[in-house]
Amino acid sequence: MSTETTAWSPAELRKLRAKALEWYLRDGRELPWRATSDPYAIWVSEIMLQQTQVATVIPYFSRFLASFPSIGRLAGATLDEVYQHWAGLGYYRRARQLHQAANVIVQEHGGLFPENFSKVLALPGIGRYTAGAILSFSSDQRLPIVEANTQRLYARLLHLSDETTSKASQVKLWSFAEQVLPKQSGSGQTNQALMEIGSQICLPKNPLCALCPLQSLCPTFSSGRHATIPAPKKPKEFTDLQEAALVIRDRRGRILMRRCATDERWAGLWDFPRFDITGHSGCASVRKRLAALFQDRFGRPVLIGNELHTFKHAVTRYRITLNSFEAQIEDGHKSDWSSSIEIEWADQKRLAELALSSSGKKLWIWLNRPR
Ligand code: ADE
Repeated sequence: MSTETTAWSPAELRKLRAKALEWYLRDGRELPWRATSDPYAIWVSEIMLQQTQVATVIPYFSRFLASFPSIGRLAGATLDEVYQHWAGLGYYRRARQLHQAANVIVQEHGGLFPENFSKVLALPGIGRYTAGAILSFSSDQRLPIVEANTQRLYARLLHLSDETTSKASQVKLWSFAEQVLPKQSGSGQTNQALMEIGSQICLPKNPLCALCPLQSLCPTFSSGRHATIPAPKKPKEFTDLQEAALVIRDRRGRILMRRCATDERWAGLWDFPRFDITGHSGCASVRKRLAALFQDRFGRPVLIGNELHTFKHAVTRYRITLNSFEAQIEDGHKSDWSSSIEIEWADQKRLAELALSSSGKKLWIWLNRPR
């Protein structure tokens, strides 16, 4: 059911801002990135917060800034060092793009975070929301923001029952996000306040309308339609994949690890040799396929041993079943490793230092489980 969306007059918008700000100054959380106007720190926080909850981000944010206190220091670090500070946050692409963007800022902007919206938007990993958030929070620029929390809040304030993902809905949401900002100063705090109401009060399932400072202005509170506004997302369609990882030890007990290439899922991270075996069932067929794939990719024959453990995990739209096997490089084989891969025989100490893919980490933790 589609219904009329609500139009807001300038006087109502003023009231909304005043109520939101009063609540935020009294009840908003004190978060480390809210205590600074440094665009670099705010940028780091926004990238970390993209797929990760506030409570998880806080210690990562502090450690990251302690190790890389400036854009220049981040640009000068190796990608491995950056990954090590990201280990556990997942979605490593964010870390890679942060590092890349730091290098662009050093090369093209003299190491200073740009203040111009288009220049910020041109940086790797920064979209319209993130550019608006960084510049409105750090220098109070009048830039709108729409992310998950504000999107839900604005859909309800507009009584927008259409899918929020449609082009028309996005235009309405971004236009409202801009109208709601004061004409003079105060856009940064207004954005913060509305995001905080979205995340703390205007919850997806059971919004805390009784505590909401905007209740008297909210058309969705009046209609009672918070369960269908915004329209619930369609469930994700998953693709099932089957993979197998090999745990290969040398005579000294070191484990063969490889670094994933830039075009792979875990680009730049370390992993056990891992192969797609989708469509192969039965032990003999899987073992034969794994030996052939290993020979093909690593240039050496391998003997596949005992099956170890099966893990399930989901990455983006893939639902992955990961089997793991012990394996051994065949004795007496002298040829070189394939030159197109980066490999390392890692002992326990080195394995603890390597930034592992999340499935690689699960397997390593399993191998070290208390017995
Ligand atoms: N999620 C995204 N950005 C945020 C911020 N600045 N504060 C709290 N949660 C957020």
